[in-house]
Amino acid sequence: MRVLSGIQPSGSLHLGNYFAMMKRMIEYQKNHELFCFIVNYHALTTVSDAAMLRQRTFEAICDFLALGIDPDKSYFYVQSDIPEVTELTWILSNVTSLGLLERAHSFKDKKAKGIVANHGLFAYPVLMAADILLYGAELIPVGKDQKQHVEMTRDIAIRFNQTYGETFVLPKPDIPRDVATIPGIDGQKMSKSYGNTIDIFAPKDEMKKTVMSIVTDSTPVEEPKNFKTCNLFKIYTLFLDEEGKKELKHRYLKPGLKYGEVKKELVEVIRSYFEPYREKREKLLQDRDYVMDIMHTGAKKTRAVGLYYLEKARENVGLNY
Ligand code: TRP
Repeated sequence: MRVLSGIQPSGSLHLGNYFAMMKRMIEYQKNHELFCFIVNYHALTTVSDAAMLRQRTFEAICDFLALGIDPDKSYFYVQSDIPEVTELTWILSNVTSLGLLERAHSFKDKKAKGIVANHGLFAYPVLMAADILLYGAELIPVGKDQKQHVEMTRDIAIRFNQTYGETFVLPKPDIPRDVATIPGIDGQKMSKSYGNTIDIFAPKDEMKKTVMSIVTDSTPVEEPKNFKTCNLFKIYTLFLDEEGKKELKHRYLKPGLKYGEVKKELVEVIRSYFEPYREKREKLLQDRDYVMDIMHTGAKKTRAVGLYYLEKARENVGLNY
C-alpha cells in the first residue's frame, strides 16, 4: 500500500510529532511504499524569514534521517523539490469550491486568532490535496487535527474524477486511537503553538526544566494518586510496554509516590530513548553534502512517480493539446 505524510519544518521536534506521526511512518516503511516529505511550500503560509525556513528545513531532514527514515527504501523528499505539485494544485483549484475551503477548521481557527489570511493560507488544503493525489497515496498517517484536510482531499478527488473521469486514488486518513492526542506539559494537546512541548533533542538542562514543570495535581504524598487524569503518567507511558505500564500504575495506587521523583526518572527515560538518534543527528547536521545528495536522489525518484499522475490529469482536463 502507498502511505504518505508530510511534516512542517516548524522548529524543534517534540514528543507529539514523534509519537503521533514520525514513529508510525518509520514503522510503515518496513512493509509499505512510504512517501515522507518536509512541507516547506506550506510553511510559507506562516514563516516569512528565508534563513529560518532554510535552517528549519535542513534540521527537519536530519531529524527524519536520524530517527530512521531509510531513503533507499522509501521516497523521502522536500516538497519544493517537486514543482509538479504546484501545477497540480492549480488544476485541482478548479474543482474546489469556496464553500469547502471556508469550512476548513484550521483556516477558521487561524482567522479567529486574528491572523490576516492570505490566499496561500486559504488554499492550503488544495496544496495538501495535490501532495497526496500526485502520488496515488492511499493511507495518510496524521494527527486528529489533519483529519478534515484529508477528507477534503478525498472530496476534491471525487469531484475531479466525476468531472473528468477516473484519475485519482481516494486516500484515507490513518489516525491511531491510542496516541490520537499526546498531552503537553500543561495537559492540553502537545503543540508548538501552545508552548507546552517536550523537545526530543533539547539539551539536558532544558529537557530537565521542561519535564520538571509538567503539571500534576496536589494530592498529598501519603495518598494514592489518580493515574487516569495524570499528564505525567500519560507522557511516561509512551515509553513503556504493558508490563512497565502496570508497574507504574501500581506505584500510583500505593501511598508515598512523589511526582518529583517520577519526573526525574522520566528525564532519564526520554534521554536514553533518543540517545542513539541524537548522535546520528549531530553527525548529519555537520555533513551537509551527504544530506543534500540524499535529497537530490529522493527528489528525482519521487518526481518520476508524480509525473505519472500529473500527466494523466493534464490529459484528462485537456491541457495536452
Ligand atoms: N498539513 C499537515 C500538517 O500541518 C502537513 C501536510 C502537508 C501533510 N501536506 C500533507 C500531511 C500531506 C499529510 C499529507 O501537519
